[in-house]
Amino acid sequence: MSDELVRPERNLALELVRTTEAAALAAARLMGRGDKIEADQAAVDAMRAVLDGVEMDGIVVIGEGEKDEAPMLYNGERIGNGEPPMTDIAVDPIDGTTLTAKGQAGAIAVIAVSERGTMFNPGPCVYMEKLAVGPSGAGIVDIRLPVDRNLTALAKAKRVSVEDLTAVVLDRPRHEELIAQIRGAGARIRLISDGDVAGAIATAMPNSGVDILFGIGGTPEGVITAAALKSMGGDFQGRLYARNDEERGQAIAEGYDLEAIMGLDDMITTENCFFAATGITTGDLLKGVTYTADGISTQSLVMRGRSGTVRLIDAHHRPEKLRNMDAVGYE
Ligand code: FBP
Repeated sequence: MSDELVRPERNLALELVRTTEAAALAAARLMGRGDKIEADQAAVDAMRAVLDGVEMDGIVVIGEGEKDEAPMLYNGERIGNGEPPMTDIAVDPIDGTTLTAKGQAGAIAVIAVSERGTMFNPGPCVYMEKLAVGPSGAGIVDIRLPVDRNLTALAKAKRVSVEDLTAVVLDRPRHEELIAQIRGAGARIRLISDGDVAGAIATAMPNSGVDILFGIGGTPEGVITAAALKSMGGDFQGRLYARNDEERGQAIAEGYDLEAIMGLDDMITTENCFFAATGITTGDLLKGVTYTADGISTQSLVMRGRSGTVRLIDAHHRPEKLRNMDAVGYE
């Protein structure tokens, strides 16, 4: 056996989790205050501060928008200390800004990193149709098939009845027809008001209570989800979705194919990818940030595509110590 095989590789995700913990700690303090912009800003600032210390030469492919509207974590921003490895980065310091502002379940801080040049850049494509399942549904479902056929196939693969399955769907008027089809097929539905990254990943977590995610959600969130489901052995399929002719025209002019079905390997074209997420508010996937007299607790998921290792990390933080250590400003 060669040295290369026996020597464990660096798992960047174990460092990236500090960035999502920082974002979650910052955002959670602002939970329920009704101000999603303030919460998002706090999460961005905290994540950016910790990212600076990560040894990599990273470029933000999916960030907070263009440079003029996002002073930090903007698309194209260089991140890390400039040393190898060269990476692509997708950040969502809060997936579920409204959930955070309202103190509702399921907000997470999340980051995905992959080898340079391997991450799909959604450009002007804001939305995509999505289908996500855990390992038992991989190779079984197909976004081109009718909803009832996918549910029947998944039920068979999971050795349950369609009535036992729970589908996660974003609660949006655009999903009226989809919801009717799922109900018509007999499956249960979990409508979420936001946060389809956590919703999709939960389909791959044992005992999460959800089996499949359907519906149209953010394309950036789709790419981030792909990094996680690659590691977990689940499946994620997407098709870009234009809301109107203007969006369609712009996407086509920039070379995007709105008919193409994108799989995990189209969204991230390498196994060399990393994912970390930390709960802000408690949801199906992760516990949120909790406060006690002894300090602050967080729960995170940490994954690496190549090894497929998924770690659930409970961390205990001591704000009185952290406060004096760095620029993150934990409170
Ligand atoms: P934000 O936290 O950025 O608001 O995103 C939340 C979210 O629910 C995503 O999880 C989802 O992909 C997207 O918004 C759906 O978009 P829309 O709210 O426009 O339907």
